Amino acid sequence: MKRWAWLERDAAAFTANLQQMGARGGRGVIAVLKANAYGHGATWAARLAERAGAVAIAVATADEALALRTHGVLLPILVLGALPPDAVSDLARADVAVTIHQAAGLSDLVSAVPADARLAVHLMVDTGMHRLGVSPDQAPAVAARIEGESRLRLEGLYTHLATADSDQPAAAAQLTRFRQVVTNIAKRPPMVHALNSAGVLRLSFPEADLVRPGIALYGLSPFGQAHPAQGLKPVLRLLARAVQVHRLKPGDGVGYGFSYVAAQPMQVAVLPLGYADGYPRQLGGQAQVLWRSQRYPVVGRVSMDMLAVGLPADCPVAVGDLFTLIGQDGREQIFADELAALAATIGYDVVCGLSQRLEFSDR
Ligand SMILES: Cc1ncc(COP(=O)(O)O)c(C=O)c1O
Repeated sequence: MKRWAWLERDAAAFTANLQQMGARGGRGVIAVLKANAYGHGATWAARLAERAGAVAIAVATADEALALRTHGVLLPILVLGALPPDAVSDLARADVAVTIHQAAGLSDLVSAVPADARLAVHLMVDTGMHRLGVSPDQAPAVAARIEGESRLRLEGLYTHLATADSDQPAAAAQLTRFRQVVTNIAKRPPMVHALNSAGVLRLSFPEADLVRPGIALYGLSPFGQAHPAQGLKPVLRLLARAVQVHRLKPGDGVGYGFSYVAAQPMQVAVLPLGYADGYPRQLGGQAQVLWRSQRYPVVGRVSMDMLAVGLPADCPVAVGDLFTLIGQDGREQIFADELAALAATIGYDVVCGLSQRLEFSDR
């Protein structure tokens, strides 16, 4: 280990979460591994997903898909994001499926597919989110157009829910619109999918062949801190060892700007990670970390590569001691969602923001 700050990830937890999503959804799983598997390492997650019986993998960008192929991942891969035509030739050769989300530009996309290749495509339907997708009215015609193109193969049909975590009636209305499309389409492709993690946990859509969860695979709740993910196991722990310990007198300041000043004799343990590692800067003076299964505050500002933890003057903290910034230690645990609430964001943002400068250790 080259650094005393690292991410520990739990393969058994990831596998159990994926299997639970399949069981709850009653369907096969497309494992959403975009953004480096939400900060957990995409190749690692893809190998586990393959072993756990996932039907396919979804990523956001062409490079994410190609990197998985380079690492020998054989499962079907779908790029969920919008792509420029230039990306298509490499994806066709790597047997990666792309999303068609509008009729405009379809001819350019077809022209970009090499003559000896056939590009798998999933047609995305905008059932209300107004992000990507063809309208439900247009979908049958666009599907028919795809079917007529010899360089394309219509492999899937999908939609994405805007409010499965917050407004289930609105999400159910989206599913009703999608159901209509599934019924109206002349030739149903083999992969029909709609439900994200919150959808799997709160809704049902038996017309689909597959579910498409992301966050739940990593053991985080799509509903945030107020509703921890029942039965899901957090996969990631963020750990560090103290690199220096100081004894402070009343009036001594800590870190940039002396935003924290000791009121009484105390100790600070310096941990070698900061906001460049994805530990949000807003957490300075707000978050807690675990040492020997108890909570202690992050004091002063989080700097780019370091942060400080305040501890009582009389505790036996020492250089090399282990601290848990995200994860469980004994009976205490700090979820990414707790840090997200303090930083006024969501758990997704915290884990996706963890930097690739942190090494992984696996168990
Ligand atoms: C199109 C699409 N499908 C599925 C997901 C997975 O969503 P979640 O992580 O909430 O399960 C995402 C993630 O944002 C997405 O953009």
